[in-house]
Amino acid sequence: MASDGGDTDPLPHAKYPELAKNFDTHNNYVSLPRREAFRIEYWALEEAKLRRMPPEAEFSRRIILVVGGGSGIGRSTALKLAAGGAHLMIADLNAESAAETAKLCAKYDKEAVASCALDLRDRASMAAALKATVTQFGGIDGVINTAAVFIPPDANGELTDQNWRLTLDINVTGNYYLAKEAQAIFQKQGLTGSIVLTSSANAVVPKRGSESYDVSKAAVNHLIGELAVGMAPLVRVNGIAPATVVAGSTMFPRDRVISSLKKYNLAANDDESTETLRDRLAQFYASRTLLREPILPDHCADAIVFLASDRSARTTGNVIPVDAGLADAFLR
Ligand SMILES: NC(=O)c1ccc[n+]([C@@H]2O[C@H](COP(=O)([O-])OP(=O)(O)OC[C@H]3O[C@@H](n4cnc5c(N)ncnc54)[C@H](O)[C@@H]3O)[C@@H](O)[C@H]2O)c1
Repeated sequence: MASDGGDTDPLPHAKYPELAKNFDTHNNYVSLPRREAFRIEYWALEEAKLRRMPPEAEFSRRIILVVGGGSGIGRSTALKLAAGGAHLMIADLNAESAAETAKLCAKYDKEAVASCALDLRDRASMAAALKATVTQFGGIDGVINTAAVFIPPDANGELTDQNWRLTLDINVTGNYYLAKEAQAIFQKQGLTGSIVLTSSANAVVPKRGSESYDVSKAAVNHLIGELAVGMAPLVRVNGIAPATVVAGSTMFPRDRVISSLKKYNLAANDDESTETLRDRLAQFYASRTLLREPILPDHCADAIVFLASDRSARTTGNVIPVDAGLADAFLR
């Protein structure tokens, strides 16, 4: 506004009577210029609304597919991401457990979570889950896979041919196809993204009786590097390598817990509850670590969430151990 009251502002605030000529008049009624009305009615309210919005959370407007989300580390990861404001598609071979995780995540925002079935042996089902994620939420920013299998040796202590094939098929080829299907979407979007896969301490520590699993996880370590090279610069690819996580894992049914306890000459009585036996085994594994503490799904999920987030924006092609300190698994 000019100091002489001249009209330099096309939207007068009617501060000076002489500016009234900018207002429409109808008999005694004087209406505001339309732009002035818009400014008062719309922007003031809009700004008030924006000020009232809660601040964005770390994963607000991020869309992430969590494969293996029906149990253990995957479920814990999904819950942390949901708490962080992510939009989530929870996928698992066990569609019911995926739906159960989605239900748990819905307490943060029921509109921001869905679930579906996915089989890491079936590339078409991975493509379908990715498509369902895009259709549901409008795109994809991250893919996490915690699903894998550990198939114990048969009654004679032998690894069957089927054990070997199935383990490599699910744990290695499944991760590769999942990443390739996701890559096609990331490329189409032209946006940055993050993939997080799950390896194991066994990838670098050879053991008797788990050759197929150990080799599959060694391959996952290398696959992470290969994918990071192939998908740069748009997509970061990293992984975590947990050591034994007994709590919350379907990988430790009662019979496996008992046979592991017996292998280490620890008590395992038939009348003891599965939880008691699992705690004993977890404590035993903890005693072999530098930190002497059991590893929980939440510890692994924290590392996955970090790798899925912008906090690790300059990290790709790496594997973070979550093993409470295993000197045998230190990378050389
Ligand atoms: N629990 C441990 O001691 C441990 C140790 C080191 C590494 N890991 C790795 O951590 C990851 C998660 O372990 P967890 O303890 O949460 O296991 P979990 O068994 O509790 O969860 C694995 C999930 O994968 C799903 N799954 C199995 N086969 C599948 C398939 N073909 N397609 C899709 N989903 C399938 C299962 O239904 C299950 O919900 C795995 O990659 C595992 O190898 C686990």
